[in-house]
Amino acid sequence: MRTTGSVDEVRELVGSARRNRLRVGCVPTMGALHSGHTSLIQQAVADCGFVVVTLFVNAPQFDNPDDFQRYPRRREEDLATCRTLDVDLVFAPDEHTVYSPDEQTFVDVGRLGQVLEGQHRPGHFQGVATVVVKILNITTPDSAYFGQKDFQQQLVIRRLCQDLHLPIDIITCPTIRDNDGLALSSRNVLLDPKQRDTATALSRVLGLTRHQWHNGTTDLPQLRRFLTDQLEAVPDLELDYATIVDTSHLEETTLADKPLVALVAATVGHVRLIDNLPLDNLTRDNNHPTNHEP
Ligand code: PAJ
Repeated sequence: MRTTGSVDEVRELVGSARRNRLRVGCVPTMGALHSGHTSLIQQAVADCGFVVVTLFVNAPQFDNPDDFQRYPRRREEDLATCRTLDVDLVFAPDEHTVYSPDEQTFVDVGRLGQVLEGQHRPGHFQGVATVVVKILNITTPDSAYFGQKDFQQQLVIRRLCQDLHLPIDIITCPTIRDNDGLALSSRNVLLDPKQRDTATALSRVLGLTRHQWHNGTTDLPQLRRFLTDQLEAVPDLELDYATIVDTSHLEETTLADKPLVALVAATVGHVRLIDNLPLDNLTRDNNHPTNHEP
């Protein structure tokens, strides 16, 4: 495995892989790798002959400077994890490699980046979209891997690839959860045991909501109310939003025959958490936090 912070070296190594007719896969991350990240890396290794993992904590996507400061950084452990997974190249640039001091160009994804997370974290998706385009332009993969855990993010990235004609397959991998249902996140290490327990309400209430859906509650305003009421009743959990939207544009709909996703965001202690659960056909969806099925 090679590790570099140099754009030229990435281009050289990816170019040589391509000359050897290897499929190139890229897994962009901010590090502090957990099993959610490793599931993406394993999928990339299964699909591709040459896999690049990027480690870069991207300041512009943090709307809160404290969140950026507190974000866990574990370079040595991350490199060891990548090595055990047979990653070919780790790109871990410093800030000045990614951003010039007089940066002028930013990628804005419009409405899709302004709702939900975009509304609660102004500038977040501009930060994500800009760095992802940079990473994709540097690593020039055939496919890039993202988690369903960040549902809106993978949609934003699909959309920018489509709009900017980036010839890259975007692969969305299922959300990986702990045994108690909590979706894995690098920020979970910042929760104390009591907060962690509180945080499990997110997946539990999403599971209950989906249970109601499959038991015939197709009145979406009623289902949204249920989701919100249940989460607002949880002590020490500050709810940002809880809603059910059409997966294609993330707007609320009353049409129950559309592909739907329930999305939630909340703060527990100082830690902001998000989670989601699709409400489409249960038999096709193996991504349910089963431990909390009532
Ligand atoms: P980060 O939070 O490190 O996540 C990297 C990738 O891992 C994302 O695609 C995310 O959706 C996925 N992921 C995180 N937790 C997961 C889980 N529990 N199950 C499955 N996948 C999970 O997302 C980012 O970094 C950044 O915004 C980035 C795209 C790297 C741009 O800076």
